[in-house]
Amino acid sequence: MGTRIEGLGVYLPSEVLTNFDLEKMVDTSDEWITQRTGIKERRIARSESVVDMATAAAEEAIRNAGVNKEEIELVVLATLSPELGFPATACLVQERLGLPPSAMAFDVSAACSGFLYALDVADAYLKSGKKKLALIIGAEKLSSIVDWSDRSTCVLFGDGAGAAVVRFDENSESDVLASKLYAKGSEWRALYRENCGYLKMEGRKVFKEAVNGMAQASLEALREAGLRPEDVDLVVPHQANLRIIKAVAERLGIPMEKVFVNVDRYGNTSAASIPIALYEALKEGKLRRGMTVLLTAMGGGLTWGAMVLRY
Ligand code: UT7
Repeated sequence: MGTRIEGLGVYLPSEVLTNFDLEKMVDTSDEWITQRTGIKERRIARSESVVDMATAAAEEAIRNAGVNKEEIELVVLATLSPELGFPATACLVQERLGLPPSAMAFDVSAACSGFLYALDVADAYLKSGKKKLALIIGAEKLSSIVDWSDRSTCVLFGDGAGAAVVRFDENSESDVLASKLYAKGSEWRALYRENCGYLKMEGRKVFKEAVNGMAQASLEALREAGLRPEDVDLVVPHQANLRIIKAVAERLGIPMEKVFVNVDRYGNTSAASIPIALYEALKEGKLRRGMTVLLTAMGGGLTWGAMVLRY
């Protein structure tokens, strides 16, 4: 009996922006970006809006889950690049999907931790019995809020969306076993965007907070689940920087073979990064039913956390 991810979906824009393309735009190099971040290329949404991407990812997740749209009672969309000031991007996606008004729809603003926050909210609603089937989405058009003349940030981010249909199932072995989510508002200035302005980040500070926060939250979530790092079959971390991912894995004592990485291909897609990674891990056969999976993220807020799933 538990909360089960029934289906996953993604949307990735077809336009690829490589490090070599960036060399022509700002004073940077493929070597610097690769060594400092592990990123080789990212996707850029030229014609697609964040709603387009979120809707496409959701459509695929719904198809893969094999559910009827009418059954969805809750839509939680995580983004830091919403379509409008208000209403919530979730409501625009609800319209596009043709979901009935019986579905509640809202956004969560927790930056790169957004998908974990959304999954935790959905899990709580499902476990309380108030809702039975939820759609959670992480969608970002970060190319629209990045300063393309600032080499310290523009090389890091990419666009995309990922979605999951989540059900409470009486007969399921799958479940969210533990979640530990945090926020430290006193440090919001390390990573933020002024109204209609560009994303700003103190990279070194966020780097340290990410390694410490993700490692600590992971250990706490594992403890809550009654598990040890060696019990984890697969780690799906937020894809911001390969050095952060490796440092977290090292602190947990989990070998990199058990850690899913695709930051090289998409850069940091913020709230979309974990669902895109889950989707690809599943496609590649690295994520299988019954596995113990650790999710962890850190982002603006500052927000961070970890969740342990039995997939
Ligand atoms: O998703 C959650 C939020 N984000 C993150 O988790 C990102 C966290 N931070 C990071 O990933 C890293 O701090 C960065 C990748 C952003 C930067 O790496 P770093 O090793 O912390 O480099 P740095 O900021 O200390 O910069 C080192 C040097 C500086 O030059 P000086 O002062 O040493 O002469 C920068 O000006 O690298 C320079 N630099 C660049 N050089 C070439 C900064 N950006 C670039 C660039 N190309 N794109």
